[in-house]
Amino acid sequence: MSFVEYSEIIQEGDVVIIFLGHESMMPIKVQSGAQTQTRYGVIRHSSDLIGQRFGSKVTCSKGGWVYVLHPTPELWTVNLPHRTQILYTTDIANITLMLELKPGSVVCESGTGSGSLSHSILRTIAPTGHLHTVEFHAQRAEKAMQEFKEHKVSHLVTVRNQDVCKDGFGITAIADAVFLDIPSPWEAITHAKSAMKRKGGRLCSFSPCIEQVQRTCEALLDHGFEEICTLEVLLRVHDVRTVSLPLPDFGPEEGSADSSQMASDVGQEEVPNTGNTSVICRTATPPREMAGHTGYLTFATKPRD
Ligand SMILES: C[S@@+](CC[C@H](N)C(=O)[O-])C[C@H]1O[C@@H](n2cnc3c(N)ncnc32)[C@H](O)[C@@H]1O
Repeated sequence: MSFVEYSEIIQEGDVVIIFLGHESMMPIKVQSGAQTQTRYGVIRHSSDLIGQRFGSKVTCSKGGWVYVLHPTPELWTVNLPHRTQILYTTDIANITLMLELKPGSVVCESGTGSGSLSHSILRTIAPTGHLHTVEFHAQRAEKAMQEFKEHKVSHLVTVRNQDVCKDGFGITAIADAVFLDIPSPWEAITHAKSAMKRKGGRLCSFSPCIEQVQRTCEALLDHGFEEICTLEVLLRVHDVRTVSLPLPDFGPEEGSADSSQMASDVGQEEVPNTGNTSVICRTATPPREMAGHTGYLTFATKPRD
């Protein structure tokens, strides 16, 4: 199993996502002889997981069942152990596209944090690209390296434990793109520019506060970056449900269509309802509450030197 290549069969050492429901999943490392407790009972790794196909339905000891899924960057983002704030799929999707990442891209990132974005970058740039990720917190850098090894992507990534604002990314003139998720991105723009290819490339900086964005934009302008733009990505998931809508009763009118005609005109089922007439229809409703502000994404282009 690897996060950048699909395998059919679960093996010892693989990471598997145990799917109990859309709101309830857990990542586990498969080890022969080990057991995992779930609310549906125990899963025995040797008999229930090793040798089974990814995606199969596994019955637990209390008779309930779970799906055992192949890990993906998307599933990892919603299941990973948090060591920091992380980026979620809505922002990640935009970052990947707007940085123009593709197989073979060379990318710089700082900080690594919990590695949420890193896994998506790695899947996009595999099999020939490389990610240079810089994290100044020693344990976070160490943990990220360990996870990249366990997820069989360590050949695609170099983790450096240093301060990106002081020491940069450790590479010169080879990056196609740079991504910053640190408190003072404006202090890393000089290093970002020198890491990027002479022919140019794309940069993105994620910041929760507009004051950080302003300082970053000023630094980008000072360093000759072009096409500077800041955006915020908000997700509205619409809920599809069946509702009963009352038909307005305007009273009888000679020669006009009756209510059943009205209902059939709009292609709906007519439901007599204690004197009133209503229609049952499927409708999509926007969310009453939605996840709020995460941060601003500032994109810029470094022109050819
Ligand atoms: C919000 S987290 C990054 C989360 C990451 N984007 C993810 O999706 O998991 C910010 C990280 O940047 C690191 N950091 C902050 N300033 C830094 C600097 N100057 N150099 C290197 N790392 C830094 C912090 O230690 C922290 O782990």
